[in-house]
Amino acid sequence: MVRKILAAVDGSKPSVDAAHFAMDLATQTQAELTFLFVIETPQVIPVGPLSGYVTTSRARSEEDVKQAEAIIEHIAKERPELKIVNRVELGEPVDTICEVAKNLGVELLVVGARGHNAAQRFLMGSVSDRVVHHAPCPVLVVRR
Ligand SMILES: Nc1ncnc2c1ncn2[C@@H]1O[C@H](COP(=O)(O)OP(=O)(O)OP(=O)(O)O)[C@@H](O)[C@H]1O
Ligand SMILES: [Mg+2]
Repeated sequence: MVRKILAAVDGSKPSVDAAHFAMDLATQTQAELTFLFVIETPQVIPVGPLSGYVTTSRARSEEDVKQAEAIIEHIAKERPELKIVNRVELGEPVDTICEVAKNLGVELLVVGARGHNAAQRFLMGSVSDRVVHHAPCPVLVVRR
């Protein structure tokens, strides 16, 4: 029934919890599991005199890709018995997550309820909220 699972990981604690949940599900269902980390590009400087300035430094992106790979590889290594595919993409997180889910034909998308900006007044972050609305498949939002 669930043969392919995609878990979206941004390196935050809630996303690592979501990845663990996805690994447990993959163990039980014997589904193929993919971890996806999206690096946001172009990066817009949010504050200061250059506010709104768009930067697309290639060097910065390459460094970010290596760091993102290290984060998801580290989680995947906890469960060597699982065949986990690690993916790092550059782009807009919601669009990229939904696009990869569609292209892989996954039956389940797993996200954390929150990410790095865990503001207690929000039930869900904006990425998980929009993924629930736009995903091409069922979405599991992991709350802890
Ligand atoms: N860049 C990303 N790559 C992969 N997954 C992501 C990314 N950003 C968010 N997610 C997924 O969405 C979940 C919720 O994160 P989200 O970004 O929505 O919350 P937040 O950072 O607390 O709030 P916001 O970004 O709206 O300020 C994460 O746990 C993760 O599963
Ligand atoms: Mg976020």
